[in-house]
Amino acid sequence: MDKLLIAGGVPLSGEVAISGAKNAALPLLCAALLTREAVTFTNVPHLNDIGTMLKLLAQMGVKVAREAARVGAGDTVTLDASGLDNAVAPYEMVKTMRASILVLGPLVARTGEAKVSLPGGCAIGARPVDQHIKGLTAMGAEIAVEHGYVHARATRLKGARLFTDMVTVTGTENLMMAACLAEGETVIENAAREPEVVDLANCLVAMGARISGAGGDVIRIQGVDALHGATHRIMPDRIETGTYLCAAAATGGEIRLTGASATSLDAVIDKLMDTGCEIIAERDAIRLKAPRRLTAVSIRTAPYPAFPTDMQAQFMAINAVADGTAVMRETIFENRFMHAVELIRLGADIKIDGNTAFVKGVPKLDGATVMATDLRASASLVIAGLVAQGETLIERIYHLDRGYEGLEQKLAALGANIRRVK
Ligand code: UD1
Repeated sequence: MDKLLIAGGVPLSGEVAISGAKNAALPLLCAALLTREAVTFTNVPHLNDIGTMLKLLAQMGVKVAREAARVGAGDTVTLDASGLDNAVAPYEMVKTMRASILVLGPLVARTGEAKVSLPGGCAIGARPVDQHIKGLTAMGAEIAVEHGYVHARATRLKGARLFTDMVTVTGTENLMMAACLAEGETVIENAAREPEVVDLANCLVAMGARISGAGGDVIRIQGVDALHGATHRIMPDRIETGTYLCAAAATGGEIRLTGASATSLDAVIDKLMDTGCEIIAERDAIRLKAPRRLTAVSIRTAPYPAFPTDMQAQFMAINAVADGTAVMRETIFENRFMHAVELIRLGADIKIDGNTAFVKGVPKLDGATVMATDLRASASLVIAGLVAQGETLIERIYHLDRGYEGLEQKLAALGANIRRVK
């Protein structure tokens, strides 16, 4: 199993290109299920999760054409779901990637039937999909949860007023996609406002859907009889962007990220400025210059536009070496501090009390062997490894390959001493 070996202590410097957003690409690929015409996506990141989703769609009878590009340039993927003949997402696929649940809404809307394995718990918490089921049921689907599968049937979904109990990103996306082909108007209240929801809505509109309000907490969808093909460029990955900004900040570096957008990163940029970093947002790029020592920043995760849970772990790495004490509150997932114990192995001073972490900055971290437990936890260990004195060996890096395209190449281009070892 591959491991990542990092010799820390080098301030990152230089320029790298940001890839397309994983969390935008996954629902977008599923949107192609909604039409018999071909849909083309550009700026698709080259990641394991994308490969898994394409394999799942291919199993369903979707024709997949992928033109691979060099790291950072973005693949072009064309999906043709005219021959869709198997509306099943089996356990073997869903267990490796929870986002497989995103096929449920489009499948039942287009074919009248879907069978999707119920995702289990995962490293960061229970993560149920009850809201997806509640919404589709309100739209008239008959849903049975049996033998570990969600089995949904509907002759034609009907528009409805939907209210989710909490803000759910993939829940909003699933229901918005399903509503595009429903009869009449659907209103999603308490909708997720994440930029990835807006990117999906923009593509659906290009495919002929009638959607208004995406980006706000009430989304209205007028159902249409059919959608058509389109070409859509996937938005830049705001979490990858934030991760490189944190890596540069923690190492006292100076970097420029191209193909990046600052507009979807306000909460993160605000906090990085509080640490003492200088940040300049250009039209399609972001520059960061770190101070000699960072100031600790307290954060509380919450749905967009507040501070993203997917950046919490990376900020814990920053706070671990900053001046002062930070209070970090995680409100989205109940078990998202696994990186803390690994950071402690590198010398960090962190105390956990329920959903709150108290991080007291220390002057230095020391390299050690650590284990990645989920995607963003791995990213925080990479940042800590780049800061630590001596060598850090990170095990189980398959988690990183799920969400960071060309991580070693990009970090090496910024001067980091990093390589994959067996
Ligand atoms: C998405 C992102 C993930 C990010 C998360 C929160 C994708 C592919 N993944 O995950 O990277 O960390 O948003 O920003 O976009 N919940 C329920 N019932 C449901 C749905 C959700 O109880 O039916 C709960 C979850 O357990 C969690 C909270 O709601 O506590 C938010 O989850 P949700 O926004 O749905 O996360 P995902 O869409 O799975």
